[in-house]
Amino acid sequence: MDQRLLDKINDLKKRRNAVILAHNYQPGEIQDIADFTGDSLGLSVKAANTAADVIVFCGVKFMAETAAILSPEKTVLLPEPHAGCPMAEMITAEQLRELKKDHPAALVVCYVNSTAEVKAQSDYCCTSANAVDLVRTLPPEKQIIFVPDNHLGRHVAEQTGREIILWPGYCATHVLITDHDILEAKRRYPDALVLAHPECNEPVKQLADHLLSTSQMLAFAADNPEKQFIIATEIGIIHSLEKQNPDTHFIPASERAVCANMKKITIDKLIASLEDMKYRVTVGEDIRAGAKKSLDRMIEVLPKK
Ligand code: 13P
Ligand code: SF4
Repeated sequence: MDQRLLDKINDLKKRRNAVILAHNYQPGEIQDIADFTGDSLGLSVKAANTAADVIVFCGVKFMAETAAILSPEKTVLLPEPHAGCPMAEMITAEQLRELKKDHPAALVVCYVNSTAEVKAQSDYCCTSANAVDLVRTLPPEKQIIFVPDNHLGRHVAEQTGREIILWPGYCATHVLITDHDILEAKRRYPDALVLAHPECNEPVKQLADHLLSTSQMLAFAADNPEKQFIIATEIGIIHSLEKQNPDTHFIPASERAVCANMKKITIDKLIASLEDMKYRVTVGEDIRAGAKKSLDRMIEVLPKK
């Protein structure tokens, strides 16, 4: 990247006492400039623990909202106000209230890809990295409502053997990856291992060797001697995979798997965000308190390192 832009960003960061967090699906140049990159879980923990006054969240709105819920005393900025996650909008708090009425004894687990209002209506929050482990900690006699991603919910049900009431939400990017794409990639690269995100549909997941969150994929590739991987998730992660493993070949399962919202963040918008302190993401205190409980319960059940 242009050294002058880099100096400008570093200058602004110092002036604002800001930290830049970027999700693994962000454009490569944003991942390169970030102080921390990670999956939804890693970035939530980072947001909760940073000493910075300002968090610039290069990701989508629910991620910035999560940071604002965990750190209300900090200023959380989303460089592009229209970077949303369509899956998070697939269930409203009102719809969840109705679902709870139909299953009054069930515990509610919501995927972090959800609005603050839905988190506030839930007992537990989870990410793709810890959904299975979290559900395993819940009392075995309890029914579980899982919202909004039915694909991740199904994966959790299969792994835990629990009865799970699903909601028909999905990621419009991950469902673009088909079983045909995987079979074709396997035909061309028969020695490659298939790593798929649990947001993928069932036929894709059945063809995968491992189901992993984005940071789990990065850790797996770093620790594994295989030299070829077929990657079934949003293609932004290929940037970090290649950077961290220059001798390994990563094959995107589908070039169509691009999250348009993740790509709305640009270097110019990042600079404008730090210059003008925009666009601030806040969550009203009544909603924030409820949503924080479900996030805190998630963080509490994480294995202690
Ligand atoms: P993770 O990075 O937590 O695996 O999440 C994937 C995703 O779709 C985020 O929106
Ligand atoms: Fe939402 Fe899917 Fe984009 Fe993640 S990849 S932000 S789940 S639309």
